[in-house]
Amino acid sequence: MDDHQRYQRYQRLVEGWLEHALPLPDSPWPAHGMPGKLVEAMRYSVLGGGKRLRPVLLLAAHESCGGQPEDALPFAGAVELIHTYSLVHDDLPAMDDDDLRRGRPTSHKVFGEAMAILAGDALLTLAFEWMADSPLPGARRALAEIARRAGPTGMIAGQVGDMLATGRAAGPDMVRYIHTRKTADLITAAILAGLLLGGAEQPALDTAASYGLQLGLAFQMTDDLLDLAGDPDKLGKNVHRDGQLGKLTWPRAVGVSQARQDVLVAVEQAAALADVFQQNARFFKSLALSIPKRVK
Ligand code: IPE
Ligand code: IPE
Ligand code: MG
Ligand code: MG
Ligand code: MG
Repeated sequence: MDDHQRYQRYQRLVEGWLEHALPLPDSPWPAHGMPGKLVEAMRYSVLGGGKRLRPVLLLAAHESCGGQPEDALPFAGAVELIHTYSLVHDDLPAMDDDDLRRGRPTSHKVFGEAMAILAGDALLTLAFEWMADSPLPGARRALAEIARRAGPTGMIAGQVGDMLATGRAAGPDMVRYIHTRKTADLITAAILAGLLLGGAEQPALDTAASYGLQLGLAFQMTDDLLDLAGDPDKLGKNVHRDGQLGKLTWPRAVGVSQARQDVLVAVEQAAALADVFQQNARFFKSLALSIPKRVK
């Protein structure tokens, strides 16, 4: 199996889990206890699109230390729910005010702002229900890692930094603060959760966290570059939004050519750490090195 096929295998497992674990909207309320409109909005944003990067990383990390991917699926699905909720809220008029996501109108455009906010809330809390139900011995530590990195010292801190820095002059230190938290933290959390569920210990966890940081920074720097020069049809979202909104991005802080250089340095640093993923070392290495070439 080559690395691309391996990615697709993990992706398919996650898709299958999400499809069956999210309730169907047409079962009559209160069959599953969730209002149909809410389920419709949750399924709309979660299913049918997205690269599934974070759950793929979680499953690959879990398998790297001998775990069975199937056992980690509730956590992989949960990380994708948390990521999707962050996108639904990120797109709201009060934040980035975007109307296209994963090639379709954003949640608030289809369901209205109130339902988009509530669908995001529901995805976040459902994620914790899925994780809490896992019988794996590492589940409590994995859940804590995800909570910490998705929460007020992690992804939310990054999103707050992003909002406060909008329209202001700031340097690379501030962008690095934002990118580390809003993007690298959830990516790192996914990797660490996979390892913890597979029974990994220090110092492997620290090395994997350094890999996650470099991968996450490279991923968000590339996202910023794609907003300048990407193809909306491939990206599934509108471009030039960061400039219109006055967002503090990596290319704005250091210039486009330096930003491209910095992506290459970050992915090389990540690739150099990939041996920590033992039997999946090659997969993690090639995944890092593919980031600068991504078009979606
Ligand atoms: C978008 O994440 C938000 C960022 C952190 C840049 P992805 O680029 O992983 O979005 P999907 O999940 O593939 O839609
Ligand atoms: C979003 O960063 C990060 C999170 C949602 C946490 P962006 O605002 O740059 O992501 P896109 O470009 O809307 O996908
Ligand atoms: Mg944003
Ligand atoms: Mg955005
Ligand atoms: Mg962006």
